[in-house]
This record gives sequence, C-alpha cells and structure tokens, in this order.
Amino acid sequence: MAQIIGGITTSHVPAIGRAIAKNLQDDPYWKPFFDGFKPVHRWLETARPDVVVVFYNDHGLNFFLDKMPTFAVGAAPSYVNADEGWGIPQVPAFTGEQALSWHLIEALVGEEFDLTTCQEMTVDHAFTLPMALLWPDQRWPVKVVPVCINTVQFPLPSAKRCYALGDAVGRAVRAFAGEQRVLFMGTGGLSHQLDGTRAGFINKEFDLAFMESLIHDPTWATQFSIHELVEKTGTQGVELLMWLATRAALGAGPVTEVHRNYHIPISNTASGLMVMAPQV
Ligand code: DHB
Ligand code: FE
Repeated sequence: MAQIIGGITTSHVPAIGRAIAKNLQDDPYWKPFFDGFKPVHRWLETARPDVVVVFYNDHGLNFFLDKMPTFAVGAAPSYVNADEGWGIPQVPAFTGEQALSWHLIEALVGEEFDLTTCQEMTVDHAFTLPMALLWPDQRWPVKVVPVCINTVQFPLPSAKRCYALGDAVGRAVRAFAGEQRVLFMGTGGLSHQLDGTRAGFINKEFDLAFMESLIHDPTWATQFSIHELVEKTGTQGVELLMWLATRAALGAGPVTEVHRNYHIPISNTASGLMVMAPQV
C-alpha cells in the first residue's frame, strides 16, 4: 500500500519566481523567507517522496472565470507551466502519476464529490513555485497529482467541504495498491488581500492561531463560513483552504510538527510554511 510520509504547506507568491530568477535568496528582504526552506530540504532527504499530491488554486492559467470547477483533479501524463504575465521564467515539465490520479478520481466520485477530471492541464505559480522551493535545482525527483480547489471565483467550497475532500484524498491514497511514498502539499495563503479597500490586509493573530490549530485541533477552521474566512484573512487569504485539505489528508490521528516558519510580508502576503508528519 502507498505510504503517506507527510504534508508541506506554503505560500505561493509570484514574486518568489522573480527572486529565484535573480538569485536573491540571500538578499535581506528574501533571506528570512528562503532560509525557512533549508530544514525542509534536510527533511526531504530522509522522507524521500516518490509522489506529491498538490492541493492548490489555479489563478486563471488553466481555468478562467468563464469555466471554474469547484474541485478538479489532474490525470495527465505531464503538466507544463506557461506565461501568466508575471514575467517569471517557466519551469521544466512535471511527470504525472496517472494511476494514482485515476484511483483518486474513482474514490472521490465514489464518495459523491463532483469533480472535473483534466487529462490536459497547465499548472500556474501556485503549483510551480512551491515545487521550486522544495527542489531548487528544478530536476523534479517526484511524480505529481494536481488537485485544484477554486478560491478565485465565488461561490467557494466551504472549509468543512475542503476538509472532507482532503480526508477523502488521504484515505484513497492509503488504499492505493502501490509502494509509493506520498507527500501532500498545500499552497496558498496565509492572510492577504490584493484588491479593494482592504488591499494589503494581513492578520498575524489569525494566521498563527490557524497554524497552531493544524497541529492540535485540525478541524478548528471548519467552524468558519467562507465570508468569515474572507473577513479574517482577506479575499486571497482564503487560499488557506489548501492547508486545511492537506492537514485532513494526513488523517485524524496526531501529527508531528517537523518545521514551521512565518514571515511578514512577502509581496502582499503573510508567508507561512509548515511541515507535518503523521505519527506512526
Ligand atoms: C500575491 C499572492 C498570491 O497568492 C497570488 O496568487 C498572487 C500575488 C502577492 O502577494 O503578490
Ligand atoms: Fe494565490
């Protein structure tokens, strides 16, 4: 059976791509952010994932506002990045783990999640930059399964529903008849708002409470409606739903907090990073 080795949650700001392209990792602005990934690199050396299931939100590269699935799962042989207009370099293609994709799709539809299945799919900065933060040489040593959750166009799925999705993905991975070591990754957040009168909004107190809840009270955030989450975290801060799905995928049992970093701001965003591993 496939083995779940852990979950990594991180922000996905496009400016990270520019900082990577310009080698600004030791620049005073960027150092506290990039240094946060050094313990993650050490952890990955022993964790040795074969597959990463990535919970993220597409921002208009693969799904535009005219067609917006609530939940979509990639089942493509490979996934490429494309120009999103940020002017950041594209990254090498990712290889899909198609057998696991279809297994997840069967399991999730079997549990009455109404999915969009994507046999062709481009992946945007929310997918590519976290991968580049984990593997800076961009020679991806893993196969991937993208799981896309709409946090861009209302109505958005509730926190409770995203937790349920993550839980179902976790159970399906555990039931997958393979030997793969599976890592979950959730990208987005933490608090940020890019538009409107509250542009620049950050809520450190809520972010820290949310990060803490993932370790000690994982369903805590499911008490909040989407509108409450927008109020507390900003219009784009709701991307923290990816963190919730990732934590849920690790199962109801206790997790060990392997690493945590929180740094304000990167671009307009409170950047957070966590590594969690299920206790065995
Ligand atoms: C920023 C953050 C995001 O999550 C995103 O998708 C785009 C931009 C930012 O802070 O600049
Ligand atoms: Fe985003």
